[in-house]
Amino acid sequence: MDHQTQTITDIILKAAERARVETSNEPEPGLTKRVKWPVTCTVGPGLEGAIACESRVGYVNGAKGWLIYRGYDIFDLAAHSNFEEVCYLLLHGSLPTADEFRAFRDRLAEYRWVNKTLRMLMGFPIEEMHPMAALRLGVNLMRQEFTYADSRERRPVKGNIIGSDEDSIPMETKPRGETHAIYEFKRRSRARRLRASQQMDDAGSIQSAYHLIAGMATLAAAISRVHQGLMPLDPDPELSHAANLLYMMTGRRPTPLEERVMDVCLILHADHGMNASTFASLVVASTLADIYLAVGSGVAALQGPLHGGANEQVIYMLEELAETGDVTGWIGKKLAAKDRIMGFGHRVYKAYDPRARVLGPLAEALARGKPDVEPLFRVAQQLEAEVLNRFGNEKKIFPNVDFYSGLVYRSLGIEPEMFTPLFAVSRVAGWTARVLEYLHNNRIFRPRAIYVGEFHKEFPSPAERGF
Ligand code: ACO
Repeated sequence: MDHQTQTITDIILKAAERARVETSNEPEPGLTKRVKWPVTCTVGPGLEGAIACESRVGYVNGAKGWLIYRGYDIFDLAAHSNFEEVCYLLLHGSLPTADEFRAFRDRLAEYRWVNKTLRMLMGFPIEEMHPMAALRLGVNLMRQEFTYADSRERRPVKGNIIGSDEDSIPMETKPRGETHAIYEFKRRSRARRLRASQQMDDAGSIQSAYHLIAGMATLAAAISRVHQGLMPLDPDPELSHAANLLYMMTGRRPTPLEERVMDVCLILHADHGMNASTFASLVVASTLADIYLAVGSGVAALQGPLHGGANEQVIYMLEELAETGDVTGWIGKKLAAKDRIMGFGHRVYKAYDPRARVLGPLAEALARGKPDVEPLFRVAQQLEAEVLNRFGNEKKIFPNVDFYSGLVYRSLGIEPEMFTPLFAVSRVAGWTARVLEYLHNNRIFRPRAIYVGEFHKEFPSPAERGF
């Protein structure tokens, strides 16, 4: 390990020690034993406190600031592991042996090629779409490349029937005089019902999880290139997942330091309990829709600024603050307007987010001497101090994962609109691991709403509504 990558490991180990010291007096974790269903719990708005399922994939303890993947502490994983290994761990439940690791890494490298998906994706105006919208589309298109979910059970009708609405589609006259629709759509016979078990064999398998983990990185990098006005690059199978991701975005092989930083970011974002995007994926999967559609809904849910989309918004906020320099006045106005400050607060953490404990010092080390990032980091520090001063003790509002991650990405030269896609490129590991786990003991999600509307209303006559 060279000196610079060792510095990253030292930052992580220091953060781990600080977390241990600061939270040692907090209570031991609850809700970690198997339960007898049905369970009794108190549910708040936004399903706060609701228990959706049992899981062995990962655990968040908000009071102690713990984040655990399959029994391993996030600090240990960030310090000593790598993203490929973490994906294997999340999906398979244990760390790989050396042989298993090599085979898994090679399989992921092989699955980086998603050429058909890219060809389809490039047919859309992705340069005009937010990269998260394009990524979501790309995940759906991967389904067309890697599964037969829609076509296996369908038999093409002999002779390729032309299905066109001849009243609305322009017609042309062929040399022999017969008319013909200019646009032709090949129609297939009506699908036989797809048996759910077949669908899951095909698109719910562990191989689909591998395809998604490897392929989404290629898609995100290609989308980033198109947004820079550049052509997508082929993956480099010799590089690690993190290094290849950076290479496909920038066209330059990263330094060992850049590779290590990206790897740590990927590890830190890979899984996080029953968050909104994971829950969205599980809800979709619980209907036996396939894993590509489930992950697509995870991408959609992650995009929102109250969830993963906050990392992009944080940078815009810091840029604004660096320009005005008035952090105190700005916070006052925000709070008076009851606005949320992006990158702060968490439904579960009432202690400092362990991921932010790593990303903060990492951002500081990387920003040093970079004129486009250092001022933003200084403003971020001021903002953190101000928020902790106002809320820390009372409301327990601390920086979350999204507060410093953007500064780290920015130091790697990545554009803000790519921050949330990078989150998705990592979180796909958690989504797929949890979807596959949930399907072993599937039950469709179906909570209820409390109806607070009216009853027994009389249907008005048309005249009463002016018809
Ligand atoms: N800025 C200002 N006040 C906040 C913030 C914030 N970022 N977060 C919470 N609060 C306040 C709330 O207004 C509330 O105050 P009140 O009791 O006086 O009404 C109190 O803290 C409790 O907050 P909740 O509303 O219960 O928090 P909730 O669990 O509903 O929301 C959320 C969590 C969405 C993350 C929220 O903290 C927020 O909006 N943060 C900003 C967006 C953000 O950074 N999202 C990324 C989260 S991490 C992730 O998803 C990857």
